[in-house]
Amino acid sequence: MTASLLSFRLAVVFVLVGIAMGIGMAMSQNHAIMPAHAHLNLLGWVSLFLFGIYYERRPRLDVSRIALVQVTLWSAGTVVLTVAVAAIHLGYKAADPLAGIASLVVLAAMLLFAYFVFRPATSLADESVAFTPAE
Ligand code: HEM
Ligand code: HEM
Repeated sequence: MTASLLSFRLAVVFVLVGIAMGIGMAMSQNHAIMPAHAHLNLLGWVSLFLFGIYYERRPRLDVSRIALVQVTLWSAGTVVLTVAVAAIHLGYKAADPLAGIASLVVLAAMLLFAYFVFRPATSLADESVAFTPAE
């Protein structure tokens, strides 16, 4: 599977869960898990979908194992961060170290993405899809 397809599929799963959390909060009038909902949607839906668009426009990067590693790390970090932050806000303070570890996994995945973006232009030149505006 390409990195972009994995990103898009996981992003849609995350936003469905995020929307369910939002509706759950609204219905119960208990917004305790708001930070978990916000980060699931922003890391899991918005950021992951943006990664997918970036990869889709770079076909060679899109089929690479390292891009799949980036998407997997980011997604795993997002799941653990969401569960841990929700647990903390529901009173299970013991989940704090787990949230800390998950945030470092998310940071590592973003550093790997930063490497893709900042590495020398020569290695990107032959894998970027030229932007061709619609007629
Ligand atoms: C039907 C879908 C959704 C429902 C019912 C919903 C519901 C909620 C609720 C009840 C809150 C808590 C508000 C508060 O306590 O101040 C909230 C916060 C938030 N939601 Fe959603 N949400 C939905 C979808 C989304 C999506 C798709 C995103 C992102 C793309 C999103 C991003 C956020 C953010 C960032 C916050 C925190 C806002 C703040 O800092 O006050 N939500 N949402
Ligand atoms: C590992 C990465 C991240 C960590 C550890 C983190 C941590 C935090 C913390 C501690 C808060 C304050 C929560 C509160 O006062 O209850 C917060 C709020 C917020 N963060 Fe993040 N954040 C991360 C990444 C991001 C990213 C990538 C985005 C956007 C794409 C984002 C968007 C927000 C927003 C909109 C809020 C205000 C809503 C809320 O209180 O939950 N965060 N974040």
